[in-house]
Amino acid sequence: MDIISSKTETLYGEINCPGDKSISQRAVILSGLLNGDLKVKNFLFAADPLSTLNAMRELGLQVTIENEIISIHAKDSLLKSPKMELNLGNSGTGIRLISGLIGGLGLHATLTGDDSLSKRPMKRITKPLSEMGINIFAESNRPPLQFKGAKLQKKFRYHMPVASAQLKSCLLLAAVAGEMELELVEPVVSRNHTELMLQSFGANICSELTENGHYIKYVPERMIETDFIEIVGDFSSAAFFIIAGLITPESDICIKGVGINPSRAKLVEILLDMGAKIELVNSSTVNGEKIADLKVQYSELQSINISPEDVPVIIDEIPILLIAAIFAKGKTTINGAEELRVKESDRLAAMEAGLKALGVQVSSSHDSIDVEGNPNFDLESLTIIDSFGDHRIAMSFLVLGQRVAGDILVKDCNNIQTSYPDFMRDMIKLGGSLEEYAK
Ligand code: S3P
Repeated sequence: MDIISSKTETLYGEINCPGDKSISQRAVILSGLLNGDLKVKNFLFAADPLSTLNAMRELGLQVTIENEIISIHAKDSLLKSPKMELNLGNSGTGIRLISGLIGGLGLHATLTGDDSLSKRPMKRITKPLSEMGINIFAESNRPPLQFKGAKLQKKFRYHMPVASAQLKSCLLLAAVAGEMELELVEPVVSRNHTELMLQSFGANICSELTENGHYIKYVPERMIETDFIEIVGDFSSAAFFIIAGLITPESDICIKGVGINPSRAKLVEILLDMGAKIELVNSSTVNGEKIADLKVQYSELQSINISPEDVPVIIDEIPILLIAAIFAKGKTTINGAEELRVKESDRLAAMEAGLKALGVQVSSSHDSIDVEGNPNFDLESLTIIDSFGDHRIAMSFLVLGQRVAGDILVKDCNNIQTSYPDFMRDMIKLGGSLEEYAK
């Protein structure tokens, strides 16, 4: 599906933030290790969490869904080796976290995914999982991943070569499922939803910042327990509307129920430094996760320099931050962003190609990207942008189309379904203009 994005005078009103993709997936994966039944509210019914939920069903999780509440009947759910291959679609979180669970349980299974997932690097998980004692095979370290049982170590210590929440969560899940003591050091903090969720389930897990990095320790002391999880709104989805409000003149919008965990919402601080008018109201905490409503007004922005240690905590927001950078006065530089090259697409290359097609001055190296901003940037005529089948690239350029005179036609937008199925509806609710393009 292609979508055409047209100029809108202003964005106004409020929307509810959809449930967090990362937390939805963690909730249904960890539910397989609980001792009692569980209800999950505000689960994100999008393609990625649904492929994870389906895989958990194949593993034996008993699930019913009524009025958008997921009930997990843990007492009837004995997780076992699945008869079929588990297809995790487009989801890196799904395949990497379920690998930890399957490995720790010593199950036999084959995990696959779509074309994009089949190209993503898995050595980061297969190496430490093998060292833990899990029999795992992956040709060229790409999916399919084959699990053939395990003879687990009692204790495992690992210095992560990359700050990746998917890697960290994979290893934590293997430790919880395999009742193994685990010590991890990640170079800098990445999103900590798994640690927070395990803590809220009563697990013995602690973490601290040390001079060597972010230290995490899990000790398998007791069963994890809970009977209810409410999933907070997805900051990464909210980010598209934050930037839409900031760059579209006279806009004044409110995004309700956004998760603002500091390991996710660093973009707010960065935008405030750039001169953004963003206000956080009605703050509270839900299942250990901070939440607030975000009020956003059109703002004149200054450029910014992002250093490598901030990249993991804005990892999914970099494409949309580059859209803000187009209108910021001065040159914006993002350093240490090589992980963007191994996401759903090579996001540095995809953003550079799209921005060049629009006439923006942009350049990149293997791990950085520079955008020369211009507060008066505009577009005269229709421009066609390739999303490379990547949901976040597609939504980023669709946001830009709201602000410029010429239409932007974004090709291949189907994968918006993986994280934000109601994206078009929410943009239109705020007064924006998006239309499916009939060929
Ligand atoms: C995620 C972690 C991030 C992020 C991805 C979701 C998660 O990946 O890009 O969209 O749910 O843990 P990495 O941790 O591999 O950087």
